[in-house]
Amino acid sequence: MPLFITFEGPEGSGKSTQVRFLVEWLKERGFSVLSTREPGGTAIGNAVRQVLLDVQHAGMRPRTEVFLFSAARAQLVDEVIRPFLERGGVVVSDRYADSTLAYQGYGHGMDLGMLRRISEFATGGLWPDLTIYLDVPVEEGLRRKRKANIRGEGELNRLDMADVEFHRRVRNGYLALAESDPARWRVLDGTKPADSLRDEIEKVVSEMLFRR
Ligand SMILES: Nc1ncnc2c1ncn2[C@@H]1O[C@H](COP(=O)(O)OP(=O)(O)OP(=O)(O)O)[C@@H](O)[C@H]1O
Ligand SMILES: [Mg+2]
Repeated sequence: MPLFITFEGPEGSGKSTQVRFLVEWLKERGFSVLSTREPGGTAIGNAVRQVLLDVQHAGMRPRTEVFLFSAARAQLVDEVIRPFLERGGVVVSDRYADSTLAYQGYGHGMDLGMLRRISEFATGGLWPDLTIYLDVPVEEGLRRKRKANIRGEGELNRLDMADVEFHRRVRNGYLALAESDPARWRVLDGTKPADSLRDEIEKVVSEMLFRR
C-alpha cells in the first residue's frame, strides 16, 4: 500500500535523524521503504544540489533557486518516488515541496500562489500523505548545526548563510502551512529528546498504517 511521508522543519530541527529512525522502523516491520532527500536523490538532482549549495554562488536569485529546487524535485518524483509508490512502497523524504513554500515563499517573500503552481507542475501534483513538521526555535536549530559542524559532521553551505530573521520567517511560514492543512501535517516539538520524538512519530505512522 503506497504511502508518502515527508519531514519538514527549520535548519537543525532533527529531520535527518528522525528519517533514519523511521526508515529503520518501517524496514523492521517488513515494509518496502525508500528514503530520499532534497535536493538530490537522483544523479541529475545531485548535480543540481551541487549548484545550489556552492558557496561561490552567493549571487543566486530566489527565483533561480525556485527553479533549481523544482528541477531536482521533478526528476526525483518521475524517476524515483512515483515508480516506488506505484509498486506499493513507502517513501520517506527528507524535505519536499513544502520547503519551497517555506523558504522561497515565506522566507524570501515570493508569491505563494505562484510557488504552489510551480510545485504542482514540478511534482505532477504529487503531495505527501503525511508531513511531519519538527518545530524548533531558530537559534536552537542553528546552535545544533554549529555544534555538529565543530564535530566535523558536515559543513556549512550557501543555504546556511542566510540570516536569523530569514530563518524566523521560514519557521513561522511552516507553522502557517501546518495550520492551513491539519489533515496532512503533524506538528511535533523538536526540542524534545530524539528518542521521545522517535516514539511519537512511530505512533503517528502506526495509526496511519492501521487506518488504511
Ligand atoms: N531531538 C534532538 N535533540 C537534540 N539534538 C538533536 C535532536 N535531534 C537531532 N539532534 C542533533 O542536532 C543536529 C541536527 O540534526 P539533524 O541533522 O537530524 O537535523 P536536520 O533537520 O536534518 O538538519 P539540516 O537542516 O542540517 O538538514 C545533529 O547533530 C543531531 O545529532
Ligand atoms: Mg538534514
